[in-house]
Amino acid sequence: MPSRRYRLRGDPQRALSIAELRAMALHRLPALAAEYLEGGAEDEIALAANRQAFDRLRFRPRLAEGDAPAGECRFPYIIAPTGLNGLYWHGADIALARAAAKAGVPFTQSTVSNVLLEDVAKVPGLEHWFQLYIFSEMALVERLLGRVAAAGVRTLVVTIDANTFGNREWNARLYAAEGQATLAARMDALRHPRWMAQVFRKGLPGFPNIAEWLGAGSADLLEASRWLRQNIAPTVSWRELEHVRALWHGRMLIKGIGHPADARRAADMGADGVVLGNHGGRQLDGAAPGLELLQATRAELRADVQVLVEGGVRRGADILKASLLGADGVMGGRATLYGVAAGGEAGATRALAILEQEYRRARILLGDGDMTCEKI
Ligand SMILES: Cc1cc2nc3c(=O)[nH]c(=O)nc-3n(C[C@H](O)[C@H](O)[C@H](O)COP(=O)(O)O)c2cc1C
Repeated sequence: MPSRRYRLRGDPQRALSIAELRAMALHRLPALAAEYLEGGAEDEIALAANRQAFDRLRFRPRLAEGDAPAGECRFPYIIAPTGLNGLYWHGADIALARAAAKAGVPFTQSTVSNVLLEDVAKVPGLEHWFQLYIFSEMALVERLLGRVAAAGVRTLVVTIDANTFGNREWNARLYAAEGQATLAARMDALRHPRWMAQVFRKGLPGFPNIAEWLGAGSADLLEASRWLRQNIAPTVSWRELEHVRALWHGRMLIKGIGHPADARRAADMGADGVVLGNHGGRQLDGAAPGLELLQATRAELRADVQVLVEGGVRRGADILKASLLGADGVMGGRATLYGVAAGGEAGATRALAILEQEYRRARILLGDGDMTCEKI
């Protein structure tokens, strides 16, 4: 048998799985970008646990029931907010938003994304969600939320688990000093000419959504990360979340919930839903995967409170497993980032098509006659 190998280059449309898009992405990206995309905190226990939580679960198919599968259900997937997408592809936030609009799934834009939120809002047919980091100065939050609402966003995702940066040591090893890549990392970047031409030569990404406060520093990654550290308190409080709730009149989800009791507290303070998970394994190492919190959380909440799960989704069957345990949908970060890093909008489109086809096929193979549609 010839040895099994993924395609590493060429048309991302030919990739058959998210794992294959990942191989293409890691081939194209220099370590500086690949490590930021891939890495988890410390010993990467939380990162690995996210995958293990899905892999451990087993289906028990019930076929020959004769019921038609519920083919009309919406594909319950949301592109998770990820900052610094411009590191993988010039204009990646727009590429992801266009792919999402075509696939009919929401795209969540990060506070620290690299395209102006008003520009993402112009993507035709997009269900545009926005993710907020709470700044210490509530006047800044109020100003940003005013813009978000004016751009037509109706769902706000407030992230509470990343006010203090996780300790990603493998990423830190690529830098000799803050913002200064090691010589080896710079040489490695030079050995990735496609990335150099498509990303680096067009200028490293800035943070246009907070540019009014960064001033001239908005194009400078180092300046921007200093500003963020100074203007985001190390933790979030319920009092601040209540303040945001009062400022935001649309739907509000709280992301980074790591305990069922906090999901309850979020619902009690008026959140419309929660996103359970450990930030893709990038923050507190050893924090439980969202999937493991799901059943206990569902039991705590009224049925109309939405529960989403994030972390480790790489197959359509993962989405089905989360649904069967009571999730209204899943959020995925890296899966579509692999697509965008492998080939821009076409790659992101391919990632979503793979996940949707796998999900719909898995439902049929499971014998889904009794399943109801997810509510997202
Ligand atoms: C490169 C990268 C950047 C991220 N940036 C953000 C961010 O700006 N805001 C946020 O709420 N979550 C951020 N996350 C977490 C994702 O929203 C999501 O929770 C996580 O990626 C899910 O795990 P998965 O990548 O295994 O799908 C980021 C994740 C990655 C991989």
